[in-house]
Amino acid sequence: MRAPQRVPLAGLPERVEVYEVGPRDGLQNESAVVPVETKAEFVRRLVSAGLRTVETTSFVSPRWVPQLADAADLLDAVAADLDGVRAPVLVPNEKGLARALDKGVREVAVFASATETFAQRNLNRSLADQFDMFEPVVRGAREAGLAVRGYVSMCFGDPWEGEVPVGQVVEVARRLHVLGCAEISLGDTVGTGTPGHVSVLLAELAAAGVPVERTAVHFHDTYGQALSNTLTALRAGVTTVDASAGGLGGCPYAKSATGNLATEDLVWMLDGLGVRTGVDLEALAATSGWMAGQLGRPSPSRTVQALAQG
Ligand code: HMG
Ligand code: MG
Repeated sequence: MRAPQRVPLAGLPERVEVYEVGPRDGLQNESAVVPVETKAEFVRRLVSAGLRTVETTSFVSPRWVPQLADAADLLDAVAADLDGVRAPVLVPNEKGLARALDKGVREVAVFASATETFAQRNLNRSLADQFDMFEPVVRGAREAGLAVRGYVSMCFGDPWEGEVPVGQVVEVARRLHVLGCAEISLGDTVGTGTPGHVSVLLAELAAAGVPVERTAVHFHDTYGQALSNTLTALRAGVTTVDASAGGLGGCPYAKSATGNLATEDLVWMLDGLGVRTGVDLEALAATSGWMAGQLGRPSPSRTVQALAQG
């Protein structure tokens, strides 16, 4: 079968915004530098497959993430291909924002940690000090008319600290919301979350004043929980889901992080549920097959593998 049988389920949104992170989260962890023209082709193919939000790269320190040192060149290469497409980029600090503004970026994302250890490892800041770094970025971006997303990492467990209290995650998310982030994306950076945990976190966030309509989910699939966690989030009212074409990805500073929820696995489920995404699954799976060839290893996505069998 090339497509699932369509059988809707009550309590789901009619449409889901697929927030594609393949070119950024998917590639940031690759040790061999992918040529900028290959990255540009990846972005173009994702857009052709119907994705309307593609997180393209990060304006971070090239010493910290050498793979994305070509951020400005990549944006130059795809500048003519992003009509009608949201193309957010990650920026941690004012230097990153200045580089992004210089390239005409319209949307940025800051990325906070819910734990002390990961704040230190990923941002070289304490949990408290990360907000001092983000405050001028969010303010400056908003003054320039940009939309700002705020990620929270390690929402469902941390490889160094273990369990992460829900209240601690809520406080970090609430602070990003108060700073002016229009959307909060809840990162399961190492993929340990399960559906009950997702449900409780979303409820506590809403109770703390972070509305579910402003909340996105970002599940890594390390323990195979990403789709069930996503369905739980959709039933709670979330309508934006982060995913990575072919299931690429991981964070170079998060021990044991594997790829994100594969966009194909997400789209297969949503197609079956009759939830609109605008994504052409065949074109997307072909893109991930092509990208797997460029990277020299098969895609971990079950849907990409099954469709490739014919
Ligand atoms: P630092 O070392 O404290 O920064 O790192 P600094 O301000 O002291 O600067 C050090 C050097 O970096 C200087 O260069 C700066 O100019 C340069 P030097 O003078 O030594 O030659 N620099 C920059 N260059 C270009 N662009 C910039 C920039 N900033 C500084 N923006 C810093 C602090 C935040 C910069 C560093 O920790 C960093 O870049 N971290 C990024 C780590 C990262 O990208 N991680 C992956 C993304 S997060 C993620 O994947 C999780 C997520 O997917 C959600 C989830 O799954 O949970 C979002
Ligand atoms: Mg991630």
